[in-house]
Amino acid sequence: MTGTETLTIIKPDAFGSGKAGKIIAHLEAAGFRLAGARVMRLSRPEAEAFYSVHRERPFFGSLVEFMTSGSCMPMMLRRADAVAELRRVIGATDPAEAEAGTVRALYAESKERNAIHASDSDENAEIEISFFFAGTDRLGG
Ligand code: CMP
Repeated sequence: MTGTETLTIIKPDAFGSGKAGKIIAHLEAAGFRLAGARVMRLSRPEAEAFYSVHRERPFFGSLVEFMTSGSCMPMMLRRADAVAELRRVIGATDPAEAEAGTVRALYAESKERNAIHASDSDENAEIEISFFFAGTDRLGG
């Protein structure tokens, strides 16, 4: 088992259509506990910085456009084996390929407008948590 913390973002498609509560309930039922949460609208520089690893990809401009199009909800989550478990619970990037019952199968619209983000490694979880939450914001249990 690896780390106990990960970062998720309920993206503008899901937040804007009122699905945040259902998604949080889904994550809590899967054993995650909230250790930090914000509602915010990403600026263009913030979205570009957060997704800088995808800067050279053909979908980067569209992804930044989408992620700045409305409010989103970054959350720091805790449970055992957090990174792998969250990725299992949310399903594949493309909702058409996501396993039935996963967050993306239930709530995502498309490969880009895919409802939710999850860190892909413990190292990136730490970087992404620090992107949104100062040490003093990390409460919960
Ligand atoms: P996320 O897990 O937040 O990480 C990168 C995001 O880029 C991904 O979810 C999708 O929203 C988006 N993305 C990944 N691949 C594609 C693609 N082929 N076309 C459009 N958007 C994509």
